[in-house]
Amino acid sequence: MTAAAAQPIAATAQRHLLLNMTANGSLGAEGDDLLVVRRGEGPYVDDTDGRRYIDGLSGLYCCQLGYSYGPEFAEAAERQLRELCYSPLWTGSAHPTAIELAERLSRIAPVDIEHTFFSSGGAEAVETAWKIARRYHALRGEPGRVKAIARRGAYHGLTVGTLSFTDDPGLTEPYGPPAIDTRFVSNTSRFGLDPQFADDEVWTAWLLAEVEATILAEGPETVAMLIAEPVQNRGGCITPPRGYWQGLRALADRYGFLLVADEVITGFGRLGEWFGGDRYDARPDMVTVAKGITSGYAPLGATLVANKVIDVINRPGVVLNHGYTFAGHPLSAAVALRNLEILERDRVLDNVRALQGDLAQRMAALKDLPIVGDVRGTGFFYSCELVGDLDDGGFSDLARAGLIADLIPRRLREAGLLARVYNRSAPLVQIAPPLISDRAVLDRIAAIIAGVLAEASARI
Ligand SMILES: Cc1ncc(COP(=O)(O)O)c(C=O)c1O
Repeated sequence: MTAAAAQPIAATAQRHLLLNMTANGSLGAEGDDLLVVRRGEGPYVDDTDGRRYIDGLSGLYCCQLGYSYGPEFAEAAERQLRELCYSPLWTGSAHPTAIELAERLSRIAPVDIEHTFFSSGGAEAVETAWKIARRYHALRGEPGRVKAIARRGAYHGLTVGTLSFTDDPGLTEPYGPPAIDTRFVSNTSRFGLDPQFADDEVWTAWLLAEVEATILAEGPETVAMLIAEPVQNRGGCITPPRGYWQGLRALADRYGFLLVADEVITGFGRLGEWFGGDRYDARPDMVTVAKGITSGYAPLGATLVANKVIDVINRPGVVLNHGYTFAGHPLSAAVALRNLEILERDRVLDNVRALQGDLAQRMAALKDLPIVGDVRGTGFFYSCELVGDLDDGGFSDLARAGLIADLIPRRLREAGLLARVYNRSAPLVQIAPPLISDRAVLDRIAAIIAGVLAEASARI
């Protein structure tokens, strides 16, 4: 046995693996603070020490089906690999599995969307939407539409292009000026705002007026697209007020920009519908998806494109000069097809619809805890925004370090729950459990969070 093989696996990770979004140098010499997940079952995962956790975050918002469908996906993958391991979707070539998947997606996609451009993940799907938007406008004689509008606090990926749609300096600043000229408008959170905004009509009107003013200030002829999630993940499961998406649609029609719904998280059942936008009557021109499209059993991204855009970019002779080697990889496409089949066969969306009311109630009850300022979300997607020891509800450095960075994540894990604890300007605890979770699992998640936040409340 080599020295490396004899080490605990976390120490090997510390020596050889660079983690994403992690202080890699602070994991301890033996990788002490690293969670190494070895196996999964249903909504649970086990670490290398044999400890079991409820996976309250579906991996990274992707394991819609949880962890027990491996044999079915393995069978689909094996069948595909025996027949055809790889074939590109490039320069006039395709393969049947990607074709079948594109057709299948067209049957569940929002209205007037029948075409799909595949990629390998979410950021690639978002960059594809941007390039298609630019191409669409240029082909229509409007090459000056070079700007994007995105929402404050949102996240659409970490590639150099998609970083432009994020206004968090912690993510963007080390990498210089954004590649895409982007203006930011408010997200739809009304926590801490004037009470008049509790009224949907008032809040929607305010938000849409801000979007419109931004467009007019920039010049409508310069705006290519607006990108928004049906429910914004970053900032804590921020739901839209009634009429918001219809208003965005009307503005897109009035000023000629394309409306992009980023459904990388909200797609494939997270909100109880195939697409989160279906809940809000969003009628986007493009939809970006990834994650749940395969329930995490293989990597895949996709950009679904409305007919009105296709009519332009598919004009005879127009080359769509954009692509990825692994776009719609046969293995991933086969897994996605099987995923859609299982989601339907096992009535997984019905499970979300049946239990979301209970979960909403359990989560809403957390608001009684002193440390909880707001509870937001819908479907199987919730956040608690925490309030701290300062007069304005913020956290002192001490409380932040003691509670947000340490006690809350530690206690959640000790209690057997993997949930997300954000330690940014607004501290949050967030859950997005597998969509196959039953009532007992959801109750347990809510109970664990309640217990931990009660302890944190007592210490504040
Ligand atoms: C809304 C949204 N868009 C895009 C992305 C980027 O996806 P990926 O990490 O697959 O590139 C994410 C990732 O979490 C996301 O939440």
